[in-house]
Amino acid sequence: MQQGYVLVTGASRGIGSEIATGLSEDGWNIILHYNKSENEANKVAEICRKNGVDAFCVGADLSNSSGIEQLTKAIQDRGLKISGLINNAGLVRLGTVKDFDDSDWDDVFSLNLRAPAVLVKNALKIFDKPGSIVNISSAAGIRSGTTPAAYEASKAALIHLTRSMAISLGPDIRVNAIAPGWILTDLNKGYLESEGVKEKILRRTPIKRLGTAKDVSDAVRFLMSEKASFITGQTISVDGGITL
Ligand SMILES: NC(=O)c1ccc[n+]([C@@H]2O[C@H](COP(=O)([O-])OP(=O)(O)OC[C@H]3O[C@@H](n4cnc5c(N)ncnc54)[C@H](OP(=O)(O)O)[C@@H]3O)[C@@H](O)[C@H]2O)c1
Repeated sequence: MQQGYVLVTGASRGIGSEIATGLSEDGWNIILHYNKSENEANKVAEICRKNGVDAFCVGADLSNSSGIEQLTKAIQDRGLKISGLINNAGLVRLGTVKDFDDSDWDDVFSLNLRAPAVLVKNALKIFDKPGSIVNISSAAGIRSGTTPAAYEASKAALIHLTRSMAISLGPDIRVNAIAPGWILTDLNKGYLESEGVKEKILRRTPIKRLGTAKDVSDAVRFLMSEKASFITGQTISVDGGITL
């Protein structure tokens, strides 16, 4: 069944690319956002089109307001409206409050928190109603470690922003978040593949495996579906139980 358009940020790689292809299997037309990985984004768009939907790519750096405007304008210029927005683009910097540079805080918060907020505001003018927004937070936003201090704080704030957006955008637009646990991607490859790390994580994980990008994509597909029409302001943990 052909549905409306869904904008997926950071759809060029990792979790975002799997969200894009998963949603295309449900008949959603996909707008794939990328920052630097244009070739990879084009390949993901091709997979989406093979599922019988429209899919195209738009590049933008979302860590600043002009990039965010550029992204919404590119959609507006095509005369399109969106039914969904998946705020997935994100970055991590390792460090504690003791050793972070001021610029680390700015970089992490600009992309992980400010971008979803400003993009939602910009996207309201191209949103079809009823609509649905899914913010990709993290298990790190629920349970604290110490090293990615800014990342954890930004993802915790995104969970709270999700609740606040759900109140202000209802009843027209539902807003939910997903908090994934450990999913092997470029974001954490170096760390997850270092000695003993995987074993340590699995000891704390009731389901005894790392997550996959498909685990996250499946949860997004549910939140985008009619089956989730009475769910808003919630955060679904997709983490094998590591935050319990
Ligand atoms: N992997 C995990 O274990 C895990 C766990 C919990 C939550 N998450 C969250 O899931 C989301 C996706 O993570 P991932 O592991 O798939 O990460 P990833 O493989 O590193 O991909 C990051 C994506 O963000 C985009 N991006 C980076 N900087 C950007 C910028 N300045 N402006 C716009 N887009 C930018 C990248 O675009 P380009 O490649 O085009 O530059 C890429 O598509 C993130 O929000 C992350 O915090 C991940």
